[in-house]
Amino acid sequence: MGKTPDEYCNVRRMTANDVEAVADVEADAFPFPWPASFFAGELQNPLAVYLVLEIAGKIRGYAGFWMVLCEAQVINIAIHSRARGRGLGKLLVGALVAAASSLGAESIILEARASNSIAHALYTKTGFVRCGLRPGYYQDTGEDAVLMRKTITRQSGENY
Ligand SMILES: CC(C)(COP(=O)(O)OP(=O)(O)OC[C@H]1O[C@@H](n2cnc3c(N)ncnc32)[C@H](O)[C@@H]1OP(=O)(O)O)[C@@H](O)C(=O)NCCC(=O)NCCS
Repeated sequence: MGKTPDEYCNVRRMTANDVEAVADVEADAFPFPWPASFFAGELQNPLAVYLVLEIAGKIRGYAGFWMVLCEAQVINIAIHSRARGRGLGKLLVGALVAAASSLGAESIILEARASNSIAHALYTKTGFVRCGLRPGYYQDTGEDAVLMRKTITRQSGENY
């Protein structure tokens, strides 16, 4: 039997040494990517928590949120296109929820493009429920944003 993602992936907090590799994942995943300087800036943001997912020391995904009062607001999540479809997204979302929980978050909220059905499936599989719509939210295409929320029940285990 093959290994499960948690057996061959390492998820940890992003550091300054990771920002170039994270920007590479970002550039692979999005048509209008944030540059490395954005991620470097986020390391100085006291509200921000960013995780990286690595396989054999190579960063293949990242995710981040801002902790605002008792709510974690997801900034983004991406898995490199060559590593998708094998459960790494689910692993990373689980780690994000665990990190938010360990910081005292009572809920975690995110928005996704209405057309991003793979993201919707990922979030539904990891316990998020649709809770709203922001019409025309994305300036580049005028697309709506779907809001999804997950109530966090206190977890034990990893601290990121
Ligand atoms: C969204 C993303 C992070 C998912 O990562 P991933 O590692 O491929 O996701 P997983 O393999 O964990 O799959 C999670 C679920 O998504 C769905 N899914 C994944 N790939 C899919 C595909 N090609 N077609 C349809 N559904 C798919 C499935 O429901 C899957 O659950 P299952 O394996 O139990 O059926 C990845 O596609 C990505 O980085 N996309 C570009 C960036 C992006 O859109 N980020 C989200 C911004 S809101």
